[in-house]
Amino acid sequence: MSYIIGNWKMHFTLAESTRLAADISDGIPESKSSIVLCPPFTSLYAVRDVLEGSSISLGAQDVFYEPEGAFTGEVSAGMLVDAGCKYVIIGHSERRHLGENNEEIRKKLLSASESGLTPVLCVGESLADRKAGTGEEYVKSQLRTVLKGSSFKNLLIAYEPIWAIGTGEEADNEVVVPMLDAIKKTLSEIQLNAPILYGGSVSAENASGFVKSGFEGILVGTNSWKSESFIDIIKALE
Ligand code: PGA
Repeated sequence: MSYIIGNWKMHFTLAESTRLAADISDGIPESKSSIVLCPPFTSLYAVRDVLEGSSISLGAQDVFYEPEGAFTGEVSAGMLVDAGCKYVIIGHSERRHLGENNEEIRKKLLSASESGLTPVLCVGESLADRKAGTGEEYVKSQLRTVLKGSSFKNLLIAYEPIWAIGTGEEADNEVVVPMLDAIKKTLSEIQLNAPILYGGSVSAENASGFVKSGFEGILVGTNSWKSESFIDIIKALE
């Protein structure tokens, strides 16, 4: 079984979100994969209604680590569960770029996990790290810093090279095979076991290649924003 997660990022009104969710839900073939849609916060509850009775799960794109309190603008894990979420993306490079650090990511992972959500932890190196030959070391250190010493009932890891996100530049086997190996070794060192997904310019054309390389699913941005391209990816992975 593999995971196919759509990250809608900061796109779509309520009407657009519910239409997209309905089109995907109506158009997907019976699938062995776990399919997850991650709309913006404002659309979560409405999309939950659309997905009710379908095999598609709901996820959020971020979470705050405190359960409640005076934290203007933040949303807790309990609130996400209440809105119908089963998954939450944590530590996406676009959030790290806005200033999120490993300590916050660690707290978010623990809080999400304690609330029963499945965190999707994003890791990945920059182009500078890749060019310097330090990509694998960078990702290993991200994993150790945020995961070491904790246990998680449910956890997914998404390897997303920053230079492949939204660029159309896909990572080839020379990059992903050693990276997958490095991630697996690091997880086993810290005694964790989690499915590892690939993200970064995934399309219907390249999706099955990542699964063949050993990834247990994919995290899709751009190609999850239209029902046709997302459904094509799901079909490609059947
Ligand atoms: P992309 O985004 O598919 O547009 O590259 C992936 C992501 O940000 O998760």
